[in-house]
Amino acid sequence: MTYNDLNSFVRALEQAGELKRVVYPVKAELEITEIADRVMKSGGPALLFENVIGKQIPVLINAFGSQKRMALALGVQDIEEIAAEISKLIQTKPPKSFKDKLQLASDLIKLAGIPPKIVKDGACQEVILREPDLNILPVLTCWPGDAGPFITLPMVFSKDPVKGTRNVGLYRLQVFDARTTGMHWHLHKVGARHFQQQKETQGKMPLAVCLGGDPAMIYAATAPLPPQIDEVLFTGFLRKKGVELMKGITVDIEVPANSDIVIEGYVDPAEPLRREGPFGDHTGFYSLGDDYPVFHVTCITHRRNPIYPTTIVGRPPMEDAYLGKATERLFLPLLRVTLPEIVDMNLPVHGVFHNLAIISIKKEYPAHARKVMHALWGLGQMMFTKTLIVVDHDVNVQDLSEVTWIVGNHIDPKRDTIFVDGPVDILDHAAPVLGHGTKIGIDGTRKWPSEGFARQWPDAIVMDEQTKHYVDSVWDKLGL
Ligand SMILES: Cc1cc2nc3c(=O)[nH]c(=O)nc-3n(C[C@H](O)[C@H](O)[C@H](O)COP(=O)(O)O)c2cc1C
Repeated sequence: MTYNDLNSFVRALEQAGELKRVVYPVKAELEITEIADRVMKSGGPALLFENVIGKQIPVLINAFGSQKRMALALGVQDIEEIAAEISKLIQTKPPKSFKDKLQLASDLIKLAGIPPKIVKDGACQEVILREPDLNILPVLTCWPGDAGPFITLPMVFSKDPVKGTRNVGLYRLQVFDARTTGMHWHLHKVGARHFQQQKETQGKMPLAVCLGGDPAMIYAATAPLPPQIDEVLFTGFLRKKGVELMKGITVDIEVPANSDIVIEGYVDPAEPLRREGPFGDHTGFYSLGDDYPVFHVTCITHRRNPIYPTTIVGRPPMEDAYLGKATERLFLPLLRVTLPEIVDMNLPVHGVFHNLAIISIKKEYPAHARKVMHALWGLGQMMFTKTLIVVDHDVNVQDLSEVTWIVGNHIDPKRDTIFVDGPVDILDHAAPVLGHGTKIGIDGTRKWPSEGFARQWPDAIVMDEQTKHYVDSVWDKLGL
């Protein structure tokens, strides 16, 4: 299932009983957050606010905020279907016949993504505002301590100024005034890398910020893809259909033709950075103000009847938990390409994705858990993981009670922990220096004699099958 636009996703949510329209007038300042937070915390539906005071454009929030809606957004019943497809494409056996070879080639092309198609016309330019004013958008001021209104679900399209390759990243934008915002790409992200390269090649850096369109594209903007993999191709893979792209009006950047709203503009590396934040962040704490490039808006285009998609972040669980969990499932098969010993992975929602990862492995040699820790800390955005727990393959990492029981029992804290010094997430407010701190690895696997463990390792307590069967057979007679 692919959605031609955000509106068709809204209709699909509504048909599935997953969306409520709110016609009562509400303010974009704080009120929508308070309503959406209560709904998110209680596992409620997506919300379409049709009457935002002083604005014409409706606000869609919590559209990804459950397992079911996340799956619907990617056009499947269950995210595991896509994870299974990725596993299958990666684990293809060496071809034996010519037919196998053709199949392998077509499978690999599928994984690389379906290429976009360039079109001349598209709904995203039905209305063109050459005298742009960001005040037309119902941008939320999310929390009382926020520095202002923030666009929270923008897909930022940029180009590598040297190679010309595309990146799409989801980075929040603080609205400063009618024509400027902050551009909050963290130091380690691809947009920030393009900006650094632009500094070296000089000149302004064109950007297009897209809102809405196909929900698969929004998800892809959040996905931790390696820089050389184009999010637009990945979206083509997810929706099984190429994304239609068209040229911006004032920027040489291609945008999805089905976007609801496109904000075109530039950042200028010659311009001083500007203070952005504080912002009530996904850690559940305010991220402090810091200096980021200023995004200058040159044009806004939109559909005739656009929807403004947004989210709020804050103390978990929030909507972003489901985007993160989709990434956990879809990227597990990709992690296994480098680390086939990984059995499963849990990034618990309250660990806010970069604070805690629990990994089970099929341990094959002494200190194997440590090798996995170092490998993960060297792999893309897994480098941000502050606490990395590794357990044996037979531990269910999705069961936090089981993990607590096993890890508490299996570790000798001094022997089984390692600390490494390195890059940490920009949002880690406890790091002694912004973006640089320590990470802890905990080896919760059974220790082997070859690891220097000279004592006997005890078995977990389990009743024998014969006694269990006997008790099953007399259970009803026990009056319990
Ligand atoms: C709701 C939400 C808001 C986000 N805001 C930011 C942000 O402001 N800055 C940032 O660097 N990453 C942010 N991220 C994370 C990035 O979208 C994510 O790391 C993505 O992989 C970055 O893309 P890139 O690898 O192409 O840079 C956010 C993610 C979500 C789900």
